[in-house]
Amino acid sequence: MTSIRRYQKPDWPVVWPLLQTTFSSGDTYAFSPDSSESEIHKAWVETAAATYVSCTKDGRLLGTYIIKANQPGLGSHVCNCGYIVAPEAQRQGVASAMCEHSQREAVSMGFIAMQFNLVVSTNERAVRLWKRLGFHVVGTLPRAFHHQSLGFVDALVMYKKLAS
Ligand SMILES: CC(C)(COP(=O)(O)OP(=O)(O)OC[C@H]1O[C@@H](n2cnc3c(N)ncnc32)[C@H](O)[C@@H]1OP(=O)(O)O)[C@@H](O)C(=O)NCCC(=O)NCCS
Repeated sequence: MTSIRRYQKPDWPVVWPLLQTTFSSGDTYAFSPDSSESEIHKAWVETAAATYVSCTKDGRLLGTYIIKANQPGLGSHVCNCGYIVAPEAQRQGVASAMCEHSQREAVSMGFIAMQFNLVVSTNERAVRLWKRLGFHVVGTLPRAFHHQSLGFVDALVMYKKLAS
């Protein structure tokens, strides 16, 4: 049984290694693989509108996600999210649950749509998952992601309308 709750400061020592491992592989997120802890803390905690964690009943961290406005001002009614699941917890529905949760949270925060700006085309599991959850590919950015083992690969912009 898992639960999703707001991130709290004591979560950081568990969240940071998960983020660091994910970003250092350089195959899913644009953060520099050698980003410092303070740079990532700023992006994942300080500048996000909200940060969440998914945990087991006994408190073991399974994943984390953030919500933020995709653009300032006149674009701020569309949100952007980022999701990461611990390797040992993948393929159990954790990301699906976090994405469904984030859509409800986004609506309650006043966002009317969700946009993913840089879904790496080779991240097939993620692309399949977001499509299954109702996101559409609205554009392909040719060679926009510098994959650390494959070189320049396409990135997808994915979008879902949440509320009118
Ligand atoms: C992409 C990512 C978020 C997916 O997380 P996840 O928790 O494994 O996702 P889910 O479990 O919800 O779904 C993934 C797969 O598991 C399957 N699954 C879900 N619940 C399952 C269960 N109980 N038993 C077996 N399989 C299950 C889903 O059907 C899906 O299958 P598919 O890949 O064949 O389509 C995760 O791999 C990750 O953190 N990757 C690194 C960071 C990243 O890429 N983030 C997204 C950037 S856009």
